[in-house]
Amino acid sequence: MKAVYPGSFDPITNGHLDIIERASQIFDKLVVAVLDNVDKTTVFSVEDRLQMIQSTLNKDLNLKSKVEVVSFSGLAVELAKSIEADSFIRGMRDIGDFRFEWEAALLNKKLGNVDTLFLMTDPIYAFISSSRVREIARLGGDVSNWVPRSVQKFLSKLN
Ligand code: PNS
Repeated sequence: MKAVYPGSFDPITNGHLDIIERASQIFDKLVVAVLDNVDKTTVFSVEDRLQMIQSTLNKDLNLKSKVEVVSFSGLAVELAKSIEADSFIRGMRDIGDFRFEWEAALLNKKLGNVDTLFLMTDPIYAFISSSRVREIARLGGDVSNWVPRSVQKFLSKLN
């Protein structure tokens, strides 16, 4: 079974990485899909976001063999269909995430008959997000607990 984990990953955090690790144990193949849509502005370019994820995964041979990283634009269901993925994976931190995720999951089911499976975020990452991490880094704070090492280098350019 193959799953797609779509997201902005602006940048990838340890919370995302935890979802990738856990999902890769459930599915035979996991495709991390980085959104490259012109109407969603990101701080990091799609090339940088892909590189941050790839260099993080390269450090783990097991993950490297099971996880592929791609970029996509357009509808996530079109990507899922084109690579014959069975479902989407998304992490859920709290009830605040639920509204968006519920709507997106129903939309994706209706649009392309692709189901979404949710993994509850590990509580140690429940209060972090890419935007918080960027804010802390920009203000000179220590983000080493929240992002992989390869991401720290990119974040240090923000301040
Ligand atoms: O990391 P994010 O920003 O919460 O991820 C949101 C994402 C990329 C999963 C969502 O915006 C998405 O799938 N966008 C692609 C366009 C699409 O398929 N829209 C309909 C479902 S939301």
